[in-house]
Amino acid sequence: MMAAIVSPLTDRTAWKALQAHYTQVRQLSLRQLFADDPERGRRMSVEALGIYFDYAKNLITDETLSLLVQLARESGLRERINAMFRGEKINVTEKRAVLHVALRAPQGESIEFEGTDVVPQVHAVLAKMAAFADRVRGGAWKGHTGKPIRNVVNIGIGGSDLGPVMAYEALRSYSQRSLNFRFVSNIDGTDFFEATQDLDAEETLFIISSKTFTTLETMTNAHTARDWALASLKDTAAVARHFVAVSTNAEAVAKFGIDTANMFEFWDWVGGRYSMDSAIGLSTMIAIGAENFRSMLDGFHQMDEHFRTAPFERNLPVLMGLLGLWYNNFFDAQTVAVLPYEQYLKRFPAYLQQLTMESNGKRVTLDGKEVSYQTAPIYWGEPGTNGQHSFYQMIHQGTKLIPCDFIAFSRPLHELGRHHDLLLANVFAQAEALAFGKTSAEVEAENTPAWLVPHRTFEGNRPSNMILMEQLTPEALGKLIALYEHSVFTQGAIWQIDSFDQWGVELGKVLAGRIIPELEAPSEAPLTHDSSTNELIRRYRGAKRP
Ligand code: F6P
Repeated sequence: MMAAIVSPLTDRTAWKALQAHYTQVRQLSLRQLFADDPERGRRMSVEALGIYFDYAKNLITDETLSLLVQLARESGLRERINAMFRGEKINVTEKRAVLHVALRAPQGESIEFEGTDVVPQVHAVLAKMAAFADRVRGGAWKGHTGKPIRNVVNIGIGGSDLGPVMAYEALRSYSQRSLNFRFVSNIDGTDFFEATQDLDAEETLFIISSKTFTTLETMTNAHTARDWALASLKDTAAVARHFVAVSTNAEAVAKFGIDTANMFEFWDWVGGRYSMDSAIGLSTMIAIGAENFRSMLDGFHQMDEHFRTAPFERNLPVLMGLLGLWYNNFFDAQTVAVLPYEQYLKRFPAYLQQLTMESNGKRVTLDGKEVSYQTAPIYWGEPGTNGQHSFYQMIHQGTKLIPCDFIAFSRPLHELGRHHDLLLANVFAQAEALAFGKTSAEVEAENTPAWLVPHRTFEGNRPSNMILMEQLTPEALGKLIALYEHSVFTQGAIWQIDSFDQWGVELGKVLAGRIIPELEAPSEAPLTHDSSTNELIRRYRGAKRP
């Protein structure tokens, strides 16, 4: 079913009102707004599901917020959310449903796709994953020579890698430390070499993770892994003990030589970048155990329910999506910095890059018309406090407006002297410094020489969100990821784009497919590319065969 027809974004009443409102608001100062309303900090925050979301340090007034909420309504966000949960094919260009929410629906709930309740299928796969994970963790799953598994190598790329790596790193303190986890994604042979050079094949399990089971990088690495394992194990029967697959494509899995009994299934209604809580999370489950994995799913589900039911004014993903859109479309901000003050979340910004930019990096609307406004901003970031000694200079004093998402947890996973107080003091201080800055009068009052005053002045008024949670648990991680997933959904619905396709990755794949045989052909073989590409190919051929 096609999505409900809504008017083009720039024709909507709330959009026009926001344009007019922006011209008044852009001059506002956060210092003034806080001075005028001593309750602003408490008022402009929402507490839900153990998340304290403080959005007071944004360049907004109550009117901004109500216009943004009105824009969400006029954009049919509610209908779009319902359509997703009903299993409608809202990924219109691929004619697919978008049902990652079913991956975390508890047993007994029902989510239908084409007349079938998919929740029992989801739980059947989860049970199969749990049984397998228990055997690997407990040493009952033996390698070909009878040794238990000590190393788990996930081979996958994009959504079949970024989620598993991020979740493993994020939940490392919950992981079984006797197992080593490695992740191979890149077609660059260095990735495979470094991940395996100190491993013993007899104790190594490869998880080949690929939704399609056709991706060049993953298939190449999977074949290399097979050769690497068989070079030591010397018996093709060993493949069954050392290789399992996660895929939607049983035929290709069987063709590769993996017994489909050792395949963990998911479905084409799960997008790659929304799949880390499907069987693609097998490495995560082996690392943290089935129970922790279930509590991560429960965190996701709580956020799904909040997104589905909470009024927009107090709906965390909706608010986050709207605030992002405010800077992206009205202040013309080009990027968003995601700054987790939690070392375990070091891969979270990289994970969010695929989630946000592969989803919303689109230039045409659902009906194929070119957009006349900006879509996805660039996401980037590093954990605090490291970034403070690197790029924060630009966020504080550069010429670009960079809205920031700070993420922090009140309780550390490792109590270590004063470390956590110092960490949290820094995250609160950064948000404060960005918002309120330091005026030239304040700098002068410190007896600063006049010539140095402009250099030491901070103009402030630089917006940020603060996401404060209690502790980084599997459940908290599930909530945090779903918060971003649904905020991406919110923005995509308003921009009226297909957040669930990724045609932009195709052309490069096709052209690489054409160039591969040219690099492997004899050096005199004729070339028909542009003169720049031809010369690059010739030089590479020359270097390869000097
Ligand atoms: O790069 C495009 C893409 O299709 C991503 O969307 C996806 O996550 C990744 O490739 C990997 O795909 P697969 O899981 O099918 O190997």
